[in-house]
Amino acid sequence: MSRTLVTSALPYANGPIHFGHVAGAYLPADVYVRTLRMQGEEVRFICGTDEYGTAITIDAERVGEPPAEYVKRWHGEIARTFDRFGIEFDIFSGTSTCPYHTEWAQTFFRRLHANGYLQEMTTDQLYSSSQDRFLADRYVVGTCPKCGFENARGDECPSCASSFDALDLLEPRGKLDGKPLERRATKHWYLDLPKLRDDHIGAWFESHEWKPNVRNFVAAMFADLRPRPITRDLDWGVPVPEEIAAGETGKVLYVWFDAPIGYVSMTQELGEQTNEDGAVDRWWRAPETQLVHFIGKDNIPFHALIFPSMLYGMKQDFVLPHAVPANEFYNLQGRKFSTSAGWVVPIEPFFEQYDAEVARFHLIASAPESSDSEFRWEEFQKTANILADTVGNLATRVLRFIDKHFDGAVPPLAEAHRAELDAEILENCGAVVDPAASVREYRFRRASEELLANAAVANVFVDRLAPWTLRKTDPERAMSVLNTCCEWIGWIARWMVPFMPGKAQALWAMIGQPGAVADQAWPGLPQADSWRSLTAGQKLGEVSGLFAKLDDETVAREIAALEERASASA
Ligand code: MF3
Ligand code: ZN
Repeated sequence: MSRTLVTSALPYANGPIHFGHVAGAYLPADVYVRTLRMQGEEVRFICGTDEYGTAITIDAERVGEPPAEYVKRWHGEIARTFDRFGIEFDIFSGTSTCPYHTEWAQTFFRRLHANGYLQEMTTDQLYSSSQDRFLADRYVVGTCPKCGFENARGDECPSCASSFDALDLLEPRGKLDGKPLERRATKHWYLDLPKLRDDHIGAWFESHEWKPNVRNFVAAMFADLRPRPITRDLDWGVPVPEEIAAGETGKVLYVWFDAPIGYVSMTQELGEQTNEDGAVDRWWRAPETQLVHFIGKDNIPFHALIFPSMLYGMKQDFVLPHAVPANEFYNLQGRKFSTSAGWVVPIEPFFEQYDAEVARFHLIASAPESSDSEFRWEEFQKTANILADTVGNLATRVLRFIDKHFDGAVPPLAEAHRAELDAEILENCGAVVDPAASVREYRFRRASEELLANAAVANVFVDRLAPWTLRKTDPERAMSVLNTCCEWIGWIARWMVPFMPGKAQALWAMIGQPGAVADQAWPGLPQADSWRSLTAGQKLGEVSGLFAKLDDETVAREIAALEERASASA
């Protein structure tokens, strides 16, 4: 049996997670992991916050907090959001707190250096003596060398649209303090991507299957690949190993170099917590491992090209990714999510009012899997109401009826009806599909539709067989029909686990089944001769409404509130 190592992109610890992130890189991964676990596979699910880098130092400075405290606060906030969504990583650590991270990041750097994959170069960069640091392009402004516009950015001019190097700006200034910048020589280390491509990564990438967005993006990068700087002049990051820095001070690894190594260091931290010896060797250096990176599309180059190059460049049999299910962008009601523009759904108030599991299901059902998509309140309402009408309605009408007329216990199946009812529900009431097959192809939207279609089968069955009428004319047959419905509810509960684990458990308990439904084996597709497993006479659990409908006023109110928030921040 293969082992699957699943990662979700490490979120930056400098802001809240919004629905777009959740739908893009976290929920699909959680659904995938839960499905594989029920299928009996060994899985590890790794995540944590991405805590180093310039952006974080500057944000921390702005609020007057030391970076370590600043990222700790965001780490807690982000962890809470994942918790709200029921996203259960095996570990959720952080790159500045994981006890193995510095060592692993330096080990990668040392070995890549020893293996001849790093180059040293000294170049001029813009230095701010007022801030006492080199500034990255996005913190630089100046006069456009082409048109003379005075507020050009570090890499392009908004006035004439030409793009250039920050060093070409006339009279460069610090974006934050407006003070003049000077050129200063500084030495950095570059990852020799062209060599890594030629040695192995190019051929490896070509020979592998990828989502089209990943394939296209990386193919374009291969065509124009250059060594990439992987160090920075900064004091918040993993230090360049001393013996390589050779007297150069203030050099740290670039945040995009150290962050993906976090997947490795956090695997070791997890191994430590669970007493698994040699966790890194077992998960990262074993050919049985299938490494799957869930990410948003802006992370494609790092996960499909740069990090694989780093793993290969170790020359220690590190696994390369098996799949990179990169999602497109997820917008909100026709516009990009933006915390600063107030165009967001505030997380805490949302969860006070709406069902987290319905949100899970809806985000999966609308995820930006093959093109950009969006969260719309009207669509969220539709999903909530469909769930209430199919799964919710099935459970309440069948189980309440049994409660009322059949003593609240699973009614018996008469042998005489078995074959006919099997054929009816398995073949004649609509196609039944195993959603796990789609999940394994990273087609989560389709899987969610399949789950709903499987649930709808039972509603067709109930409508056709009408046990409410049969109860008076042919009670034995009525009981057989209801028995069949209970069985089907048990199937829906198991198929539902990855999408809505809490509702699945509730449904499982309602048909009187003991224990955790998530511990059940994945049911696959029902086979005519073996699909039934309930014992007649088994007492039902308490029956309650699983899903609440959303009305039009609620939707209108939310859209109005969104518009208001946006104009308030404008
Ligand atoms: N912090 C990055 C982002 O939010 C993702 C880092 S993923 C890692 O875009 F692999 F580098 F960890
Ligand atoms: Zn210009």
